[in-house]
Amino acid sequence: MTKKTVFILMLTTLLFACQKGKDSTEIKIDKLISEMTLDEKIGQMNQLTGMGLSDDMKEQLKNGRVGSILNEVDVNIINELQRIAVEESRLHIPLIFGRDVIHGYKTIFPIPLGQAASWDPKIAETGARIAAEEATSVGIRWTFAPMVDVSRDPRWGRIAESCGEDPYLTSVFGAAMVKGFQGDKLSDSNSMAACAKHFAGYGAAEAGKDYNTTWIPDVQLRDVYLPSFKAAVDAGAATFMCSFNDINGVPSSGNKYLNRDILRDEWKFDGMLVSDWGSIDQMISHGVSANLKNAAAKAIEAGVDMDMMALAYITHLKKLVEEGVISEKIIDESVRNILRVKFRLGLFENPNVKPDSNAFYKPEAIAAAKYAAEESAVLLKNNNLLPLGSSFKTVAVVGPLADAALEQFGTWSFDAEPAHAVTPLKAITDMYGKQYKIIGEPGLVFSRDSNATGITKAVAAAKKADVVLVFAGEEAILSGEAHCRADISLPGLQNQLISELKKTGKPIVLVIMAGRPLTIEKQINESNAVLYAFHGGTMAGPALADLIFGKVIPSGKLPVTIPRMVGQIPVYYAHKMTGRPGTNFVTIDKIPIGVFQTSLGNTSFHLDAGDKPLYPFGYGLSYSTFEYSKVKLSAKTMEKNGKITAECTVKNTGKFDAKEVVQLYVRDPVASLARPVRELKGFEKILLKAGESKTIKFEIDATQLGFWHEDKTYYAEPGEFQVWISKDSQSGEAVSFKLK
Ligand code: GLC
Repeated sequence: MTKKTVFILMLTTLLFACQKGKDSTEIKIDKLISEMTLDEKIGQMNQLTGMGLSDDMKEQLKNGRVGSILNEVDVNIINELQRIAVEESRLHIPLIFGRDVIHGYKTIFPIPLGQAASWDPKIAETGARIAAEEATSVGIRWTFAPMVDVSRDPRWGRIAESCGEDPYLTSVFGAAMVKGFQGDKLSDSNSMAACAKHFAGYGAAEAGKDYNTTWIPDVQLRDVYLPSFKAAVDAGAATFMCSFNDINGVPSSGNKYLNRDILRDEWKFDGMLVSDWGSIDQMISHGVSANLKNAAAKAIEAGVDMDMMALAYITHLKKLVEEGVISEKIIDESVRNILRVKFRLGLFENPNVKPDSNAFYKPEAIAAAKYAAEESAVLLKNNNLLPLGSSFKTVAVVGPLADAALEQFGTWSFDAEPAHAVTPLKAITDMYGKQYKIIGEPGLVFSRDSNATGITKAVAAAKKADVVLVFAGEEAILSGEAHCRADISLPGLQNQLISELKKTGKPIVLVIMAGRPLTIEKQINESNAVLYAFHGGTMAGPALADLIFGKVIPSGKLPVTIPRMVGQIPVYYAHKMTGRPGTNFVTIDKIPIGVFQTSLGNTSFHLDAGDKPLYPFGYGLSYSTFEYSKVKLSAKTMEKNGKITAECTVKNTGKFDAKEVVQLYVRDPVASLARPVRELKGFEKILLKAGESKTIKFEIDATQLGFWHEDKTYYAEPGEFQVWISKDSQSGEAVSFKLK
């Protein structure tokens, strides 16, 4: 088709559009659909993983049997595949190329769980923007991110990919990532369609075992697991992805209630819903479909527009239409959603990408990645050891993650290049090697290492040093999809390494690089200072170096609870009070011999762990200290549709200029359903100079006080509410007001 013909066609459509007053894109879609055969429609619903320029793929493209390709990253192959799809197919419909660009493409940012620990959504937005600029430079226009599954189970490998346990924090970060990926205009060549995933309830997998079943009552689904997806819709996410799990026996890929009633009818989402990899086919394994044909019918009826790699649609949809099992109308709806995203991305006008060999690792990207890693680290403990001062002359840098470039990327970093990562050992040597004598000795070769011979060398290095920096944690492979752990302690002989180092009597700084909270109470007790850095990405090393030596002050706060023991899980801050909250209990180490059966305090706790986690959601220290005034409310009552202001003055009482994340929590102590003991409803990260005070104000209205009721309505019930403005989810004093 010549350019002139295309121009005339588009002009006609546009004129036609004006007559009908309909959105011009919809008119173009109408026109295109009216020309498509059933085969071509079904072809758009078929997503395949890249096969290079294989003859098979070329043939399928010419015949219009593919709507999207994922995991192709060679810009020349992408352009050639696109050229075939556009020039050699009958209707010239461009492909959309997708990839999991979760926390960076080449310049890798901290894993999302780490980014959430920064409590600075701008960091997530900037990281997503940079990822989009790098990935679109090779032709990737669709990322399968943000993952906005609320996760309260650190055994689950994908907690690494999440923004933690809280619906509000996850909503804020998910929306920021959508904005970053999609940029100002989706049709800009450096914008990528975001994909809110995995819809929904995936983080509730039983036993923290991936793909496992979930049992989620509707009120909990709507209170906890859906808000972050609704926030993604409100942020304009172009696409959604189904989750692998079933909710109460219904797999998401066949869940009409989820995908049609909620996503389309309640939320008015008009983007595209893609299955997860093979998730349509997996309905057979789930036991709700006897065969792929039935699974295809279930999925299309449930509103799944595109089939990622199950070959269910391309194989069975036509027959299902011919047999009258499904209507062509329902197929048109899905094709419309797919074409809408392609039009919005500008793929019809600009299907190809101009390669840009300077797109990766730009200085501003590297700087942003370092800043993100700095802001993501959470200081858990500091017995006046950090920041390291000049009194120390020799520093031992040990541990399996001290110089492990690949590992610090964390999970979901397919396109990362270890050669570009700066490890802690390299950074400390390059940046601080003049002021300090640095001795590097891993002690263990990798995090799961069970060979103790290296420990002796590490201990010897420690003995020669004034202070020991231990970089411990998890290899990247130990978290992420399908990488769940039933024991979340430090793998391998790391605990032994730390205990041996402790015996040297040297002060220890423990730095954890991991994809999840770990049960490390003993190791924390053996250390003088502890920084929890998650997997910090390309620039984890320089960030940690500047944090340890004080050029940067830690400001991260936990986006997820750190349990004392794996047996406490699920343990999270927004729990219910229960009828017997854990009070005056006796723990196992204090039980006298031969006591009477009911003498330990009949309340909600574990004999061997008590009733509190090791560190709560929202917790994080600084090198400075902060004081919070009593919370002041602008009124003691709130009108039904009114609002009140809660304010608190925060003072930096330490000697460092530092940042603090001021958090707003509320509680409904008496309601028709038992409500959580606290719920995060706002936060603000502020910088205070040493000695400086600042009054932080939060507006509260009834929309933040409501919850979902069993009749599927959301509203706040009149009565007393409690408010905290505090430094974490366990501290602060509540003040109350009444909602009329
Ligand atoms: C995987 C993941 C999903 C990812 C998709 C494509 O199985 O569940 O998050 O986007 O397949 O790689």
